Amino acid sequence: MASTAHKRKLPEKDQFGADRPARLLAWYDRHRRALPWRPLPGEHADPYRVWLSEIMLQQTGVKTVGPYFLKFVTRWPDVAALGGASLDDVLRMWAGLGYYSRARNLHACAVAVKRDHDGVFPDSEEGLRSLPGIGPYTAAAIAAIAFDRRTMPVDGNIERVVSRLFAVEGPLPQAKPLIKQLATTLLGESRAGDEKSRAGDSAQALMDLGSSICTPKKPACALCPLNDDCAARARGDQEIFPRKAPKKTGALRRGAAFVVVSGDRLLVRTRPEKGLLGGMTEVPTSQWLAAQDDTAALQQAPVLKGLARWHRRAGLVTHVFTHFPLELVVYTSSVSARSRAPAGMRFVPIATLQGEALPNVMRKVIAHGLDI
Ligand code: ADE
Repeated sequence: MASTAHKRKLPEKDQFGADRPARLLAWYDRHRRALPWRPLPGEHADPYRVWLSEIMLQQTGVKTVGPYFLKFVTRWPDVAALGGASLDDVLRMWAGLGYYSRARNLHACAVAVKRDHDGVFPDSEEGLRSLPGIGPYTAAAIAAIAFDRRTMPVDGNIERVVSRLFAVEGPLPQAKPLIKQLATTLLGESRAGDEKSRAGDSAQALMDLGSSICTPKKPACALCPLNDDCAARARGDQEIFPRKAPKKTGALRRGAAFVVVSGDRLLVRTRPEKGLLGGMTEVPTSQWLAAQDDTAALQQAPVLKGLARWHRRAGLVTHVFTHFPLELVVYTSSVSARSRAPAGMRFVPIATLQGEALPNVMRKVIAHGLDI
């Protein structure tokens, strides 16, 4: 009979986590990165600078953004100035940052704030989200950093820190809502009735922690202010977090590869520059298609003078690409040593094949076809 005598009641509250927000902020006060859009400690953040930096940081790293941010605020010191600029000037200044729809939205947003909000940014997530180019993450970041709203913007760095701290087993992206909920527990308590907090500092503390200490590989846990109650560190498997859903592999594709020997030479061609295995060397093949039978594949064989017949090699060559697995039937044939290659193809000495840019799948095909 199962005994209940040893069952202990788990503590209802995480006894070790209560001071996390305070420890995080104390660490941030000592180690915060000096970034051009961050006010000095104790100063109020300027919503215009916070918004501008968050839009620039959406797809670009902190180092690249720095000089662009300074150029923008020197030329357009507030949102009304930017709203009065021409889109062409904004696009020219943005050149090099990429993802130009961000620049178009940036300009549209500045125009909207100037025209519809008297040049003052809305101070709630909801109000911010109504503006061009501001999605849920950016709205939360601006609300927290510029207006101290108790909300946690969760970026990739924060996802990593939080998923390790709480050993979140669910994979991304499904675990995002849970991670957001757990990340919110790291915001400091605000006083009763007071919606304001140091939310922006808590969020930026986690961003800094993720970029400097809780890094994807070899995190520097000894330096982390939250190390003594980090669930992943206790287990010693920090690097497996955040868990990611396994990539879905595509449907099996099938085709035929043609190994044609002419004396001591092999028939090859160069793949198109763009796309899978771009610019690499291959033996001619049929198309690689999901629903293709061998007869259809053989009909795409190269045409050479003097080629009598194709021999189908027993077995298959299989290869798994990132997005799909491939099965190739290999046909072989030989032509005279003086044969000319068809247009777009060439014969290369088998002895010099090592010097060709042959992808692994082609190494397998050639080994199978030449029986080497
Ligand atoms: N990435 C996005 N927003 C950031 C911020 N405020 N500080 C550092 N990195 C960021």
